[in-house]
Amino acid sequence: MENIKRIITDERNTLIKISISSPFSKDEEFNKISVRPVTIKKKPCFQAERFKNNQVFHLNMSTEEFLVFLEDIFKKYAQISFFKSGETITCSVSAGGKIKTKVSKNNLKAKATESGNNRRKEYIFNEGENIPALVDLGVFTPDFKIVKSKYDKFKQINRFIEIVNDAFVNDSSKEITILDFGCGKSYLTFIIYYYFAEIKKKKVKIIGYDLKKDVVESCNKIAEKYGYENLKFIVSDVTKDTLADEHIDMVISLHACDTATDYALNYAIQKKVKYIFSVPCCQHEVNKTIKTGGDFDILLKHGLIKERMSALLTDSIRVAFLEDMGYSVDVLEFVDFSHSPKNIMIRAKKTKKGNDKNRKQIKDLQEKYKFTQTLYKLTGDSNE
Ligand SMILES: C[S@@+](CC[C@H](N)C(=O)[O-])C[C@H]1O[C@@H](n2cnc3c(N)ncnc32)[C@H](O)[C@@H]1O
Repeated sequence: MENIKRIITDERNTLIKISISSPFSKDEEFNKISVRPVTIKKKPCFQAERFKNNQVFHLNMSTEEFLVFLEDIFKKYAQISFFKSGETITCSVSAGGKIKTKVSKNNLKAKATESGNNRRKEYIFNEGENIPALVDLGVFTPDFKIVKSKYDKFKQINRFIEIVNDAFVNDSSKEITILDFGCGKSYLTFIIYYYFAEIKKKKVKIIGYDLKKDVVESCNKIAEKYGYENLKFIVSDVTKDTLADEHIDMVISLHACDTATDYALNYAIQKKVKYIFSVPCCQHEVNKTIKTGGDFDILLKHGLIKERMSALLTDSIRVAFLEDMGYSVDVLEFVDFSHSPKNIMIRAKKTKKGNDKNRKQIKDLQEKYKFTQTLYKLTGDSNE
């Protein structure tokens, strides 16, 4: 066992996986187990995939827990193989507990060295983590495995959280109040709630707004089920209805359709909300209304270019307004373009008083190209 302990602790960096098979008893719950070293919340752990019929059950363990788990495995299974870079150590265990060890060469070295412990991208939230609301939302299976069809969504929300996390590294506030515009099925809303409540240990209150009554009802039920008493969903048209009047620290919107994003940004501007994280969605407004008549008519000649240029113009106006309103703004690539073409995130933090540096340029552009842009209209400068 000392040799095995050394592999798990001192030689962890060379370890690729451990395969466990051939249970002594026919009644053993799992017929096969595969374990690999992973990093969860920056801590070295081991993740076991335990196979039963056609199902897989995950178990995450600290190094100490895994050593205890392994001791038990050596009593219950006849075949335990440790795949390291360059060599495989196979332990054959007899029913009486005698262990025969065979070492053979393998060609896994290059792969293992190349990727080491980061074979998979480690997110803030990883597959296998006990986040029950994600099971109810259909992102995780009951054993916390990512549902295949939801993998892209899981990647998106993790990326969103990563960007939020960067902004909160030095934030020591105890409470946070957040509005989510166009929350939809609320995968992001739930995970943002979980992130602030469980990881940042803040008192968090979130309201998610959406047009869809059935989706809002089902999200409220899930929030109630897990006792998330400060997570509420409200049926609301954010372009028309009166929204929360209390102090809000953060506005988020992920693919809130068309001009709903402008209403989210306008709300934040008017209420001087400190943090904004907004990934705009489809943008039809400028594309539908823009006319030729200026120096950039060449960009309006072909439908596809016009559509893309209108979307970029829309986001540029949004960013320019936020800057004028005293926000420090970053425009980030949210996810790969191949993953979603709606991949720009506007991240803004209110840091200073406003000015009107960009206002004249926006006004000139609007007068030349005659487009309608909702944030421009809402902020009161448009002559329409
Ligand atoms: C593409 S979904 C995105 C949902 C969610 N944020 C996500 O990323 O999974 C857009 C959502 O915005 C909602 N929405 C669109 N216009 C809205 C409006 N005016 N007021 C409230 N919600 C709106 C839709 O009902 C829809 O659920």
